[in-house]
Amino acid sequence: MKIAVLPGDGIGPETTRVALTVLAVAGDVYGFSAEVTEHPFGGNAIDSHNDPFPAETRAALPLADAVLKGAVGGPKWDTGEIRPEQGLLALRAELKVFANIRPIRQWTKKIASPLRDELVDGLDMIIIRELTGGLYFGPKELTAETGMDTCRYSVEEVERVARYAFDLARTRRGKVCSVDKQNVLSSSKLWRNVVIERVAPDYPDVELSHQLVDSMAMKLIERPLAYDVIVTENMFGDILSDLAASVSGGIGLAPSSSLGAARPGLYEAIHGSAPDIAGKGIANPTAMILTVAMMLRDLDQTEAANAIESAAIHCLEHGPTTPDLGGSATTDEVGAAIAALIQNREVTT
Ligand code: NAD
Ligand code: IPM
Ligand code: MN
Repeated sequence: MKIAVLPGDGIGPETTRVALTVLAVAGDVYGFSAEVTEHPFGGNAIDSHNDPFPAETRAALPLADAVLKGAVGGPKWDTGEIRPEQGLLALRAELKVFANIRPIRQWTKKIASPLRDELVDGLDMIIIRELTGGLYFGPKELTAETGMDTCRYSVEEVERVARYAFDLARTRRGKVCSVDKQNVLSSSKLWRNVVIERVAPDYPDVELSHQLVDSMAMKLIERPLAYDVIVTENMFGDILSDLAASVSGGIGLAPSSSLGAARPGLYEAIHGSAPDIAGKGIANPTAMILTVAMMLRDLDQTEAANAIESAAIHCLEHGPTTPDLGGSATTDEVGAAIAALIQNREVTT
């Protein structure tokens, strides 16, 4: 398999490097070889190419079976004309990855949630965040006097991501909660209509509910166990998934995949470049490692994916862990421990 790696900025390269070590070990043990190429992307690419998504990186993507991306951005590029985040939006648009799959799980009871145990025991939901439309991609304008972003959705954009959510729910507990702000926003009125009229009738076996986004933030704190698959527009999904990741035990544990109609998919942790801890060697690599597991599952390396997931969970239960989880291990030590568990086949597949 060919993997295009975009290491990114801040803790991006630190966590990606460790995740690649785990990928290589899994390949040795489960009999596949990952051909990895690295490409400039994000802030580092602004420095080297004056472009967060340089042409040479763009050209490499169609050759890959999957794109593995570390977080991008940081204070160095926060005030510039060109920003790393623009590259990220361009990358998602280029790959046409409209569905961002963000699993939120209680990986183990050993990891503390900010919520009481009984509110999160068995937590297992997936947030499907629409990723190539909405406020991020609509017309924008910034003048000295005004700033403007536009939230625009088409029927087709809503329908394809909603269908993804309903299909996924069928393989799980059969429940979809669609989140919008249809009491105020036209884009949300369209969203809800499409979900109800064009998608839900094809899935009579799936239980559909709707929630306004503000009260959804509340419900995710008060009753997170009520949810199975959540589908929502781009920015609502961005916000709710950080919140849900925290509920599940921390943003350092939350992986994601971004999928379109064709390969390559884009695989990235949901956390950012964490400028406050970058360079200290203490970032939690678990989210990136679980992201590699999601990637391998999509590439039909199920045993390897299961082994990585099981090793990561074992490590959360028995240590070592990084400081965000109360431990004192480094990024490398956690990666090495997970790799050793896989190497020694001390995992379930
Ligand atoms: P962040 O996710 O980088 O950090 C939020 C907090 O979580 C920080 O305290 C950080 O130390 C902690 N944290 C995040 N990941 C961690 C990990 N793996 N281990 C331990 N602690 C971790 O969010 P932010 O501070 O709002 O954003 C920083 C930069 O990252 C911004 O430039 C933003 O645009 C960018 N960003 C990039 C992506 C991406 O590339 N996918 C995602 C989110 C944010
Ligand atoms: C994420 C990030 C990005 C987003 C930023 C960095 C553009 O927050 O992947 O969640 O908002 O999509
Ligand atoms: Mn985000």
